[in-house]
Amino acid sequence: MGFDKTGFLKELQKRKEEIDRHLLGSLSVDSDSPLIHQAMHYAVSNGGKRLRPILVVEGAHLAGRPAEAVMLTACAIEMIHCYSLVHDDLPSMDNDDLRRGKPTCHIVYGEANAILTGDALLSRAFELIAANAGVSGVTPDAVVAVIEEVAAAIGSTGMVGGQVLDLQWQGQQIGPAELEHLHLLKTGALFRAALRSGAILAGMKAQALEDLTDYARHFGLAFQITDDILDVCGDEGVVGKPIGSDERNQKITYVSLFGLEGAVELARQSVDKCIASLRSFGEEADFLRDLARFTLFRQS
Ligand code: IPE
Ligand code: IPE
Ligand code: MG
Ligand code: MG
Ligand code: MG
Repeated sequence: MGFDKTGFLKELQKRKEEIDRHLLGSLSVDSDSPLIHQAMHYAVSNGGKRLRPILVVEGAHLAGRPAEAVMLTACAIEMIHCYSLVHDDLPSMDNDDLRRGKPTCHIVYGEANAILTGDALLSRAFELIAANAGVSGVTPDAVVAVIEEVAAAIGSTGMVGGQVLDLQWQGQQIGPAELEHLHLLKTGALFRAALRSGAILAGMKAQALEDLTDYARHFGLAFQITDDILDVCGDEGVVGKPIGSDERNQKITYVSLFGLEGAVELARQSVDKCIASLRSFGEEADFLRDLARFTLFRQS
């Protein structure tokens, strides 16, 4: 079957709206709300594709459970992602002033508050994951496994470790192996935890979970390679973040290392590997197959 791009984009939008309803519901504010809550709402509500929470839901779906069973964890994973973006944009990190088409959190709320906003989102996220134990059919053991999974994915052995390498290797001549390692940590680890968490909460069997883990590895790579490409070729109005940030910060990226065409080819190969890793699944995994293909033509 060919790839029905229009149908897929419609489905993606529907899933994004479902996430937004729950996510924003859990962070609603008014003009009397404390500043920190306003800033958290700002950091989370300003657009975003919501791919990570969509992956949480999809992991559960492939193990036969509905979105509601894992929605708290899905929202938590998106809060963690938003925290990582707030910190990533800080003057001491990538020093970017535009995110999702709006001024970055530190531009609006100041640097100290932006750091604290990230901290608060991270804390709230674990509160939500723990609360997922109250959902019928979800076992406390599965929630504990997810807490461990997520914590390991975002700390020094995952996302934060990757962000540190990203800064440490700025301006240095690293090779393809180091770059892949960096991408898998800074971006891949959270995607992996997202897909696995939904599947774990839904009680997925070990072999299927392994296959999904494999998918997530290649998906994370494809996604960060295309992020690097968009930083060079994207349209700022569509991408919603400054173009050329990587070059300005002397980041080694897939484009700086392999050239534009080389990077596109490597993204393609990663997408092929995503699809191959789903061979034991039937058409119930078509959404994940299409999501992998989507990384190749996404414009934001
Ligand atoms: C941007 O992630 C940061 C990376 C890890 C490349 P997304 O492209 O998923 O950002 P949003 O959430 O849609 O804004
Ligand atoms: C960010 O990578 C990864 C994390 C936030 C963990 P980038 O620095 O490339 O992300 P963008 O391009 O600013 O979204
Ligand atoms: Mg960065
Ligand atoms: Mg950045
Ligand atoms: Mg980038």
